[in-house]
Amino acid sequence: MRYRRLGKTNLRVSVVGLGTWQLGGEWGRAFTQSEVDAIVGRAHELGINFIDTAECYGDHVSERLIGRGIRGQRQAWIVATKFGHRFKALGQRDQLWQADEVRQQLEESLRALQVETIDLYQFHSGSDEAFANDDLWTMLDKQVQAGKIRFLGISISSSGNPTLQVQRASEVGASVLQVVYNYLDRRPETSIFPHSQAQDLGVLARVPLASGFLSGKYKPGHRFENPADVRARWRPEEIEEKLRQVEHIRQNEVPAGVNMATWALAWCLQHPAVTCVIPGCKNVAQVEANAAAGDLDLGGGDHPQTWSESR
Ligand SMILES: NC(=O)c1ccc[n+]([C@@H]2O[C@H](COP(=O)([O-])OP(=O)(O)OC[C@H]3O[C@@H](n4cnc5c(N)ncnc54)[C@H](OP(=O)(O)O)[C@@H]3O)[C@@H](O)[C@H]2O)c1
Repeated sequence: MRYRRLGKTNLRVSVVGLGTWQLGGEWGRAFTQSEVDAIVGRAHELGINFIDTAECYGDHVSERLIGRGIRGQRQAWIVATKFGHRFKALGQRDQLWQADEVRQQLEESLRALQVETIDLYQFHSGSDEAFANDDLWTMLDKQVQAGKIRFLGISISSSGNPTLQVQRASEVGASVLQVVYNYLDRRPETSIFPHSQAQDLGVLARVPLASGFLSGKYKPGHRFENPADVRARWRPEEIEEKLRQVEHIRQNEVPAGVNMATWALAWCLQHPAVTCVIPGCKNVAQVEANAAAGDLDLGGGDHPQTWSESR
């Protein structure tokens, strides 16, 4: 596994982290605690030390599973969660952006995760209107002073113009950005990375497998038929177009003998602005293939502030 400095937090983070939207039940199924324990345990063995969850992956469901999963090895993990919503039902959330609402959510997240401090607390893809709220950032700063939060981050929405939130990140006290970045969506290279580099912000690349498509396992013509899978709600033409692009990439770019998911993650890690990828995982085999990207160097040149360690 390789490790990098997470921007100005100075945290030493594994280049592959663990995304856990899946555990909230919107990816086709619910998860048992023993399944989650196996995923988290294997990730730890492979050198992964960063875990990303959110308040609305189920109503704190993912956070609770993780809280129990990391109990006893809290020090081994950098724990990131988010604020701004309450889960209502599959695909539905209430928006909760006022300072007192977020203050209450923070307590709920601390309880669910069974931790005294959240290492990274992220603004969860809210609007510019929700973002431009001084009372919110003042309250969050007080929670940092009180030791309930170590660092603040902004998870940038993939729809809309990111400029305001990216440019004001340091001003509101954020040290990290979370952005959609993968081989099929390279917009951050021009819209976000120049700003994150100028401000020394850590960058977490989310949806790095393009929602599983860049694993190469879905072929053109595939239909997501399970209504509990978030992808079942996407437009069929959009899915088909992505699947066609992926098939082309699989045939023309992925080196023979290399797992395509591993390759797709290593591809993201070549960009000097990217600190870490956070693929969502549903089982131990996926954790293993994803962690392998931590050792796959595609030869993109030296990345700043990287350490290698064998496990
Ligand atoms: N607004 C936000 O802040 C926001 C939004 C989205 C995501 N996130 C975070 O980012 C994380 C990653 O994004 P994502 O989960 O949406 O997309 P992703 O990481 O691109 O795709 C995850 C899906 O890919 C498949 N997969 C994972 N590893 C695989 C492997 N090695 N081989 C084959 N298939 C594999 C799994 O689905 P199947 O096996 O069912 O195909 C998994 O559910 C989330 O878990 C969450 O923590 C944050």
